[in-house]
Amino acid sequence: MPELAPGAFHYPGFLDEAAQAALAHDIAEVVAAAPLYVSTMPKTGAPMSVRMTNCGPLGWVSDKEKGYRYEARHPATGAPWPPMPQALLDAWTQLTGYPKSPEACLINVYDENARMGLHQDRDEADFAAPILSLSLGADCRFKLGGARRADKAISLILSSGDALVLSGPSRRRFHGVDKIMPWLAQPLPTPLAALGARVNLTLRRVN
Ligand code: SIN
Ligand code: FE2
Repeated sequence: MPELAPGAFHYPGFLDEAAQAALAHDIAEVVAAAPLYVSTMPKTGAPMSVRMTNCGPLGWVSDKEKGYRYEARHPATGAPWPPMPQALLDAWTQLTGYPKSPEACLINVYDENARMGLHQDRDEADFAAPILSLSLGADCRFKLGGARRADKAISLILSSGDALVLSGPSRRRFHGVDKIMPWLAQPLPTPLAALGARVNLTLRRVN
């Protein structure tokens, strides 16, 4: 398992094909109950190119009026988020060893042209807990920067089934997705294929 930087671990192929297919079924059920929505940027109200939903007690949302935050309910349906599938809780325990469960799993759905600009995950109160990300579907070029936006970033490919942990000194590194590479895909497993090219799940502890 390559350690990209202190506390930043890449686990290529962490989920095998059967585990990816099972997780895709779980996520399709989440999306059926908690439909994908388009978040908008604080202040400008510009729509993000990635569509989102969440599972777990809390979900990450953003809009022009109130900005980035966690909410216990879906912004459109007003319903509580669906529970986190057991496979995600198991992956959290196995890869982070963190004693408390994750409270939020953000589900990002990318089409071929979607991007995620360089950002820090810093809307959480608990920075002692790692971040765990799992990817399904098309490869992407992922940027991992430093503690400051201007720091030099490394590029790596995240493929279907890969896990990434950002912990300790890497917990607040800047990161982003600057290209989806569908020509190298791994199509998304069937129950998700109609939604887009790539799905990323980010598990976080919030409080
Ligand atoms: C994110 O940082 O929210 C998503 C990262 C990814 O899609 O790999
Ligand atoms: Fe992030």
